[in-house]
Amino acid sequence: MLVLGIESSCDETAAAVVRDGNEILSSIISSQIDLHRPFGGVVPELASREHLEKIDPIVTEAIDRANITFGDVDAIAVTQGPGLIGSLLVGVCYAKALAYGLDKPIVGVNHIEGHFYSVVFENPAIEFPALALIVSGGHTNLFYIPVEGSYKLISRTRDDAAGEAFDKVAKMLGMGYPGGPAIEQLARSGDSSRVKFPIAKISDGRPDFSFSGLKTAVARYLKENDLKVYDDGGQTAKWTMDVAASVQESIVRALVRTMEATARDLQPKTLIVAGGVACNGALRTAAMASSTKLGIPVYFPSKNLSTDNAAMIAAAGTSKLRNGQRAGLDLSADISMRLQNLDNEDAALKKRGARYKL
Ligand code: KG4
Ligand code: ZN
Repeated sequence: MLVLGIESSCDETAAAVVRDGNEILSSIISSQIDLHRPFGGVVPELASREHLEKIDPIVTEAIDRANITFGDVDAIAVTQGPGLIGSLLVGVCYAKALAYGLDKPIVGVNHIEGHFYSVVFENPAIEFPALALIVSGGHTNLFYIPVEGSYKLISRTRDDAAGEAFDKVAKMLGMGYPGGPAIEQLARSGDSSRVKFPIAKISDGRPDFSFSGLKTAVARYLKENDLKVYDDGGQTAKWTMDVAASVQESIVRALVRTMEATARDLQPKTLIVAGGVACNGALRTAAMASSTKLGIPVYFPSKNLSTDNAAMIAAAGTSKLRNGQRAGLDLSADISMRLQNLDNEDAALKKRGARYKL
């Protein structure tokens, strides 16, 4: 089965052709990082305009590079949500028009489920139950997946996503966007024992994450120690590296300790760490150490499949198509699309006052 995947949920316009759910024939990604960098983050209006410019040439390039024609495609999978509405709409409308014109089936894919499927290309087949930590700029979720397609949400962030925390702290340290790679680079020369940033504990006892306090803690540390970015004539100061290392350690520890405690409890057969933050070497090292301790294999996507791409959307779409799922032409972008479809506690948690972005 040849599936054309289309992804445009945030700031990457991407298209890919995937055979039988796990073989990439082409994967084209047009990143908008340079466009948004001067603003220190993604500007939604600019993002959707850029998607509009890029979507047709990127999809055409994916078809060409796969050495196939549009007629050879068996189905189309497109990111339906969550994400930025203007960005999502470009991909969804384009994919629907293509599906209608070619008379091919189409499925909508949850972007977070796409990240889960990003590990299928370069790892052994996922054994279920699986436990997946999906960490990106917009999401920080720990899912228990007893069988393919069933997602129980165990932990999520109460405020900022882990990638967002990297991005915000990087900004405070005078580094550009995106912040994750910049912090990782700085942290390599830093001493993480220099500052101990606390790991937030959620007062209602849920195993949730919280990263917004970290940026406050960093701001307070900089103020109390009278540290100013680039106060040494443009050279990166040693303290900047130490703060980066400490922040990275705090984020990684929060993520991995929750994953490890949940794995002890639920005994999954596979651990998965995916999403843009899964590029982070310290997170990979800590997750691998945890995997060894637990005796459970951990799968990561390669770095080019960790950040947003369309191959993962095609892979997730293939699984849905195999289950007979098809969307109609009323398929629409859904910015608050949820993946949790098992023991969903959202309504009860809301009643108890727990607030989540997603
Ligand atoms: O999955 P992704 O490309 O987009 C979303 O769906 O959000 O993730 C982007 C996020 C950004 O916040 C970026 O700073 C973070 O992933 N990131 C990293 C690294 N590379 C990207 N965070 C930490 N270390 C990295 N090496
Ligand atoms: Zn993503």
